[in-house]
Amino acid sequence: MSITLITGDCMKVLPSFSDESFDCAVLDPPYNETALTWDRWPPGWPTAVRRVLKRTGSMWVFGSQRMFLERIGEFAGWRFAQDVIWEKHNGSSFKADRFKRVHECALQFWRDDAPWAGVYRKPQFTNDATARTIKTRGQTPHTGRIGNDVNYRTVEGGPRLQRSVIFARSEHGRAVHPTQKPIEIVEPLLLYSCPIGGAVLDCFAGSGTVGVVAQRHGIDATLIEGDQKFVAIACQRLGLDRGAAA
Ligand SMILES: C[S@@+](CC[C@H](N)C(=O)[O-])C[C@H]1O[C@@H](n2cnc3c(N)ncnc32)[C@H](O)[C@@H]1O
Repeated sequence: MSITLITGDCMKVLPSFSDESFDCAVLDPPYNETALTWDRWPPGWPTAVRRVLKRTGSMWVFGSQRMFLERIGEFAGWRFAQDVIWEKHNGSSFKADRFKRVHECALQFWRDDAPWAGVYRKPQFTNDATARTIKTRGQTPHTGRIGNDVNYRTVEGGPRLQRSVIFARSEHGRAVHPTQKPIEIVEPLLLYSCPIGGAVLDCFAGSGTVGVVAQRHGIDATLIEGDQKFVAIACQRLGLDRGAAA
């Protein structure tokens, strides 16, 4: 298992990778919605990522509905698979004339030159299905015949398919990056779309959350981050000496 963190502009770094290098991409791009200097959408990144993704691969992209609607043309060459909602315990940038916004989206896409049937996916389960009460009739001791006494027993619900709305506390107050994603939201997306031992790409690495999850599960990660100070933070989280130069 290897974690590679590259410092640089992903639009300059991505062309250096071979075609179809990665099993999946989990990306949290600049939404282009704040005044933060790094919050600028690099035009053409979805096309650059498509080339380096295997035909069996897929890409998760975090963003707001506004971001996706405004950039829909950038996703030419991709097909939409599904969306997941990250429900936060709090929100940010409230506008008094709108609903209190406490969620973000993650959309999954796959290459439009590949059939969905061939795309790797491993549905995720949570162990919280509703418990059931089972009614049984007792047996009479000597004859073994069914008696009249009725017993009730509660059976644990067990696993159920993970729901598309996932609650995870935001990193507010403990984050080392202004838009750091919680591990609890990145983990199911990565495990759904990348085989153990496979390779994930995150070309907007920030504090390296995708790398942290990949490390936990024996997945190779290639991370690209343009801002030196976030590279230093990601190195610390990932136990790396320093990021590789582009
Ligand atoms: C939304 S943040 C990602 C946060 C990350 N998911 C985390 O959990 O820490 C986007 C990151 O992309 C970086 N970025 C923006 N443009 C970039 C580019 N052209 N190449 C590489 N990184 C870029 C920003 O510096 C920022 O750290």
